[in-house]
Amino acid sequence: MNASKTVIMGITGGIAAYKSADLVSRLYKVGTRVHVIMTPNAMQFIAPLTFRTLSGNPVLIDSFQEDSRWRVQHIGLAEEADLMVISPATANIIAKMAHGLADDLLSTVVLATRAPILVVPSMNTNMYNNPIVQDNLGRLRDRGFHILEPAEGELACGVTGKGRLPEVDEIYSKITELLFPRRDYEGKVVLITSGPTQEAMDPVRYLTNRSTGKMGLALAQEVINRGGDVILITGPTHLSPPAGACVVPVTSAREMYDEVLRHYPQCDIVIGAAAVADYRPKAYSGQKVKKKEGDLVIELARNPDILAELGKKKGNHILVGFAAETEDLLVNAQAKMDKKNLDVLIANDVTQEGAGFGSDTNIVTIMARDSEPLPLPQMLKGQLAAVILDKIAGLF
Ligand code: C5P
Repeated sequence: MNASKTVIMGITGGIAAYKSADLVSRLYKVGTRVHVIMTPNAMQFIAPLTFRTLSGNPVLIDSFQEDSRWRVQHIGLAEEADLMVISPATANIIAKMAHGLADDLLSTVVLATRAPILVVPSMNTNMYNNPIVQDNLGRLRDRGFHILEPAEGELACGVTGKGRLPEVDEIYSKITELLFPRRDYEGKVVLITSGPTQEAMDPVRYLTNRSTGKMGLALAQEVINRGGDVILITGPTHLSPPAGACVVPVTSAREMYDEVLRHYPQCDIVIGAAAVADYRPKAYSGQKVKKKEGDLVIELARNPDILAELGKKKGNHILVGFAAETEDLLVNAQAKMDKKNLDVLIANDVTQEGAGFGSDTNIVTIMARDSEPLPLPQMLKGQLAAVILDKIAGLF
């Protein structure tokens, strides 16, 4: 880090406020300009003088404080920031940020800045797990805030669970990552298929699967963060795509196939994260199929295998697939990789808890040509996206 970067450290009223002293000190020592904003509640836990001394700058508390450094304090501050960090972030500031309140200096600067914002929640487990807090964190995530998950352990209130502030080392390395983002995908166009497909049998019914598109969206976001361009060809999903992605919505596997082939010549890398339906109802009925006595038999036709088709005309493309398996994970995954002519395959035992469809986390083994399978622990899909992209970048 160096003096060219400015970080605004927001401190809110949690017992972990004292840990931010170490964080501010580390940032200051490597030459980062640090402006600390404290909420009045934070001052009940730690004195502003501590941060004044460690940051070398006056601590900002009040929206109406006299300060000759900026013409309009909250706007000047907000514009100067390369990054805002809120650590610890209480349920209160999380709620205020999620709903756009601006009733003190910190929440006002949050609204005024265009810098990335890192939120480090820390609170009692029951508060953290409260669906209202989780909804608010979800809103922030959807809006592009970076959230560092709290750690599990014994909390100051005596209970054990999730809610502890992560280690200062972890917060510091996240700050470094956000201040000096990797741009290793600059100039690369990555086509990502994502979500489920829907295979219509009549105007009101279709076959589909449990994919939500979370993994594909996490990959798309990470490519954008690292400077790449994304063509996101996505089946129906309730989740919003990341800003900056070129989104091509599709419904059925055949539509996805057509769009992928259309965009294939313009891309360098294809990641097949979609759960493409292997079969569709053979005959589509233009009218709603009427209920009759007895059973109904629906005949299914095979859908095209998109990745396998791309594998036949690979050229200089890097092809990456996912394999959701329920048995003989590595053997089946290896066979799939060979059959589809893939460079990297993310093998996923979907019978494990915390893996696969709809979950926020995944447990996978990354396989690649000429290297040993790399089994990974349970990870958030966002973290996994970063590891997958590291692996792909190694092939450039
Ligand atoms: O053969 P299987 O469906 O297990 O392969 C999964 C991988 O192949 C995934 O990456 C998926 O996106 C891709 N796939 C595809 N077209 C299909 C079926 C799967 O591109 N019709």
